[in-house]
Amino acid sequence: MSVIENSKLAIVGAGAVGTSLAYAALIRESAREVALYDINSAKVAAEVLDLAHGTQFTGASRVTGGDDLDVVSGANVVVITAGARQHPGQSRLEMAGVNVEILRDLMPKLVERAPDAIFVLVTNPVDVLAVAAQQFSGLPPARVFGSGTVLDSSRLRWMLSERVGVAISNVHALIVGEHGDSEFPLWSQARIGPISLADWMLARSEPGAARSGGTASLGSVPFSEAEFESIAEEVKNAAYKVIEGKGATNYAIGLSGARIVEAVLRDEGAILPVSSVLTDYRGVSGVALSVPSVIDAGGIARVIDVPFSAKEQALFEHSAATLRASLDTLGL
Ligand code: LAC
Repeated sequence: MSVIENSKLAIVGAGAVGTSLAYAALIRESAREVALYDINSAKVAAEVLDLAHGTQFTGASRVTGGDDLDVVSGANVVVITAGARQHPGQSRLEMAGVNVEILRDLMPKLVERAPDAIFVLVTNPVDVLAVAAQQFSGLPPARVFGSGTVLDSSRLRWMLSERVGVAISNVHALIVGEHGDSEFPLWSQARIGPISLADWMLARSEPGAARSGGTASLGSVPFSEAEFESIAEEVKNAAYKVIEGKGATNYAIGLSGARIVEAVLRDEGAILPVSSVLTDYRGVSGVALSVPSVIDAGGIARVIDVPFSAKEQALFEHSAATLRASLDTLGL
């Protein structure tokens, strides 16, 4: 990977998520300049210094930042991580009100300073905030979207990868819908390499047999419904588990955010399940939900119309209704 000439990534919020995203972006050389903004002057100054002190080892990127919003000026991508954090046991949707108000104030100021940027929401509840940010910015949905289920899909791919003993890069599976409690895996489209997940045969002596058992990459038992359900539950509850143990999730969301930023800055045309305001996507309009989307320098080039099974369609509509109810209570 090589860094893009003159590309600037601005990160709003120097908390656990913003700084992990900056750290990931520096190491991955996602942008030429990583600029960090936070209202807390001492904290942001210290984070910028700490990151800058390591840039001998990160390649050609540099880090800047401070407590003046002008640090985002001219950014190509602005990632928003600022907001109240999720407490143990609290759902993402419960944090909506306060974070919507933060965005109401912030979005016009950010657009003024970075009028050509792509805006990526990471703060939760990300699907609600993607709608709010899109409305407050006045920009098209293609340019203001949420990190959505990019992270959840990585969690799913990791679990499947461990289960079948195949590299995570060859596991193709997506979580779609809400980044939250109504999300679900698109099992009907999941593949391991060229094989549909429904046709994948597990070795009988799972778990772990596939990787350690030599020749037995394929066995004789398909995934059971119960196993699909338990994996889906585990993905859905993954963040709760991490938050319970360490108070926040930061590394994996930081990496996910950096990955989205690269897809934009490198004009990749990469398919990522980001959350954008939908218009008649499988019958759903006016809410932001994650669906596979082609990401390039303009943001979302298009969303991909994936075939859903009847069950997936029902789950998607349930996710949309959940978000609609939350948006209604917020007047969005
Ligand atoms: C998570 C937070 C970012 O899923 O929502 O880790």
